[in-house]
Amino acid sequence: MDLQEFITEADAIEHEAAAAFQGAADADTLEAARIAFLGDRHGRVKALQDALRGIAKEDKPAAGKRFNDVRTRLTELHASRQSAVRSRASDGACEDRSLPPRRQWRGAKHPVTLVIEEIEVIFRELGFTIAEGPEAETEWYNFGALNFPPNHPALDAHDTLYLEGEGLLRTHTSPVQVRTLQRVPPPIRVLIPGTVYRRDFFDASHAPAFAQIEGLCVDEGISFVDLKSTLNRFAERFFGAARTRFRPSYFPFTEPSAEMDVQCGICGGSGCAACKGTGWIEILGSGMVHPNVLAAAGVDPERYTGWAFGMGPARIAISRYGIPDIRILYDSDVRFLEQISE
Ligand code: PHE
Repeated sequence: MDLQEFITEADAIEHEAAAAFQGAADADTLEAARIAFLGDRHGRVKALQDALRGIAKEDKPAAGKRFNDVRTRLTELHASRQSAVRSRASDGACEDRSLPPRRQWRGAKHPVTLVIEEIEVIFRELGFTIAEGPEAETEWYNFGALNFPPNHPALDAHDTLYLEGEGLLRTHTSPVQVRTLQRVPPPIRVLIPGTVYRRDFFDASHAPAFAQIEGLCVDEGISFVDLKSTLNRFAERFFGAARTRFRPSYFPFTEPSAEMDVQCGICGGSGCAACKGTGWIEILGSGMVHPNVLAAAGVDPERYTGWAFGMGPARIAISRYGIPDIRILYDSDVRFLEQISE
């Protein structure tokens, strides 16, 4: 073998061995490659070393240097590959499949959203559709068309933020009654969820911005019987077999008006902290749509009658889930939210 042939063979061994070591994915394959190239007895590096003896004397230093380089590089390459293959194997050995998986917070529906959705399902079954309206309203829709006399004390409970120019933040979802009556002719059955605003302090039972759900049913021959039976049916579905009671009340846009209470589900009516000792939970305001409201919206009050209600899903969520303070609903603390949502 002359020097040229020796160098060519050294290059080939280096190249092939490097590829074999790098390509070995496990310890057995790597060991087979080690024996083929670096094996003491039949390895190709050993054969190259034997060939060194037949090289002409003057070429020996160059050939010897090349041989040493190849052997050193391949020994190092093998060692580093071996530790990589071993650590990969030991990763597997340490895997503990009995460890519980790390839990990920995926987000969940807010309790008020859960309540709204459940109410929507019940009223859809009763033939209601869902409608919405603007949160920035005109005084006419929020008050005038709803039969609030100017300077009437009922306005006190509806203090709100007035916007620049004309308009205000709506204090209830009732203006959407008027918008619906203007938009579609009776028969009408709509459910109107939305956010409303009041000048209330943020305390354990009040928030300055909160959700409401309005209901409106208008047709020929609708009476208080329809109001009572529909709302009783709703209470039965939503609260289970709870008893209800209707108390006379006042709203400018309904006549007669009534508040509906549901027997407290926590104490069963004997009185507890959740119902403030009364045995009843106030759920909603309701009444027969005032003829002036129908007329303001362009609906003939001699031909049509209707009933309406408005309720606060946050209040309902509080009594249903036994939440002591309404502000918790607005904190967005996931530790609280995940206790209620799955
Ligand atoms: N809009 C009334 C309120 O916010 C609730 C209500 C709606 C009462 C519809 C009667 C009929 O207090």
